[in-house]
Amino acid sequence: MNKPQTTVVLAMTADGKITDRASSPARFGSKADKLHLEKQISFVDAVIFGAGTLRSYGTTLPITNLELLQARQKRSQPPQPIQIVCSASGKINPQLRFFSQPVPRWLLTTATGAKFWQEKTEFEQILISRDDRQTKYSQLIEWTAILSQLKQLGIDKLAILGGGKLVASLLEVDAVDEFYLTICPFIFGGQNAPTPVEGRGWLQQQGRQLELISVKQIDREVFLHYKVKRVRNSEFGVQNYSL
Ligand SMILES: NC(=O)c1ccc[n+]([C@@H]2O[C@H](COP(=O)([O-])OP(=O)(O)OC[C@H]3O[C@@H](n4cnc5c(N)ncnc54)[C@H](OP(=O)(O)O)[C@@H]3O)[C@@H](O)[C@H]2O)c1
Repeated sequence: MNKPQTTVVLAMTADGKITDRASSPARFGSKADKLHLEKQISFVDAVIFGAGTLRSYGTTLPITNLELLQARQKRSQPPQPIQIVCSASGKINPQLRFFSQPVPRWLLTTATGAKFWQEKTEFEQILISRDDRQTKYSQLIEWTAILSQLKQLGIDKLAILGGGKLVASLLEVDAVDEFYLTICPFIFGGQNAPTPVEGRGWLQQQGRQLELISVKQIDREVFLHYKVKRVRNSEFGVQNYSL
């Protein structure tokens, strides 16, 4: 697939929740985790997040750390990566503080979702994917074409900042290269609290396999870095154990 290098960056509780049952803005990570997130964002040309994430926070995380800003300048990157909002419906409140943050904004949506925004200035660029209501929800965005378009538009590195629905749809088409997961010392529980990967899920044999790149502990948090293994279908899934 001709696409940018893609990295998911998420914090989760020890029971695998990325927020609580009320889908509150996730602010349970430590200062170290926030810096880790900012650092990962500083490496990329663009970040992408689902409309659910934007509705929850109302804002995005801009890079403010001076060293990270200087490093971007040295790499001839603009100060802030492009912020791409993925929304099939396009139903996003234009009053959100996000729209007054000094960051470049793009919208990835369907033809229906684009209608409201097309004559407006909130988004510098609107990418329109197919709008086929017969299509499974998770594939409303035709990722292969869109990711190739992003690459052509100069986005070599893309950070995927959640939430779980967006990550699931990208994993479904094998478009995720790496995961950074921070495990934070909380349990939120709740069957409706989102997890890093939502969607329909896979049976064990089809489960995506990861290669552990690094593990780091800082105070009460654990920082995991995984690479998504590209394996043939016959090699997919968990090992068989006799119980
Ligand atoms: N702990 C963390 O690191 C972290 C990070 C990010 C988010 N969060 C939390 O996660 C929660 C949101 O997660 P979520 O899974 O509910 O939502 P999400 O993935 O952020 O957003 C879902 C919405 O995004 C759009 N979308 C996502 N994938 C799409 C696709 N393939 N095609 C078309 N549209 C797509 C749709 O927007 P429309 O409805 O407009 O069509 C969909 O309803 C928030 O509470 C946030 O605080 C936590």
